[in-house]
Amino acid sequence: MNGSSLTLRVVSATTLSPSLRHLQLAGADGAPLPPTGAGAHVLLSLPGAGRVHRNAYSLVNAPGSRSRYDIIVRRVAASRGGSAAVHERLKVGDVLQAQWPANLFAPVRGARRHLMIAGGIGITPFLSYLQDAGVRQAGCELHVCCREEERAVFAPWLPADAPVFFYWDADGHRLDTAALLARQPAGTHLSVCGPSELNASVLAAAAAAGWPSAQVHTEHFGSGASGGTAFEAVLHKSGVRVQVAEDESLLDAIERIGVAAPCLCRGGACGVCITPLLDGEAEHRDHFLSPAEQAQFIMPCVSRARGARLVLDL
Ligand code: FES
Repeated sequence: MNGSSLTLRVVSATTLSPSLRHLQLAGADGAPLPPTGAGAHVLLSLPGAGRVHRNAYSLVNAPGSRSRYDIIVRRVAASRGGSAAVHERLKVGDVLQAQWPANLFAPVRGARRHLMIAGGIGITPFLSYLQDAGVRQAGCELHVCCREEERAVFAPWLPADAPVFFYWDADGHRLDTAALLARQPAGTHLSVCGPSELNASVLAAAAAAGWPSAQVHTEHFGSGASGGTAFEAVLHKSGVRVQVAEDESLLDAIERIGVAAPCLCRGGACGVCITPLLDGEAEHRDHFLSPAEQAQFIMPCVSRARGARLVLDL
């Protein structure tokens, strides 16, 4: 361990399904790992073809575990990045660099009850929620929308007594979000993690039902909505230019040419990558900047140019 960085070793790698792989990571020096809490994630540096990808993954361990970190990684279709590295190249014994775990999605202490809704691999932060004594004592329900065949893949990761319900795309098996929200007692906190469409539809249903926004929480990291039209980024302080390809994020392009850029969630939620925008019009895709701030700043992990060029104070 060094400052906020960690050196981890892959101690096991297990294929759960054609698109899901489970990794167990331990400290490379054998020392205890920094403790984690429910909803925490770790940012891994993953070797790719010609560059290093930095991806955030939820820890599915029981909170407080210090002997290892467990992650489950979905292979993203057509990935040339971190998920391809995890599925195709990582093997037991490999050593990885990581940042200390961070938590942007911790359960709210004092919630009367926890209602969790997950889409697919969005189940992962809730696997640690279900092992959190405070969440279980308050009372909780997890509702998972996934492909029917993935129920069996996720089932072994669920505590036997946990109230978990699965839904899939077939008559009689679809989640009725409005009905679910309507039967929750006052004081319930709703947490949602899944594809952006599912997040948006659940948030819209909660707003329509009058849920206070302070009781509604969403995990945004790794949204994957980073592609778009190619453009040029001029990094003013560094004195370099980089061409941002259609299928990469501005942050990925900056890292590709070796310019250090802070980041944490890589999904436009945490605010760590905030960068002054000196020139050009941005297409803002983050969940962090206010409309007034959008005129002056950009979040390179998710946002990109509307035109041919952006100039950043980086
Ligand atoms: S890294 Fe979190 S908002 Fe960009």
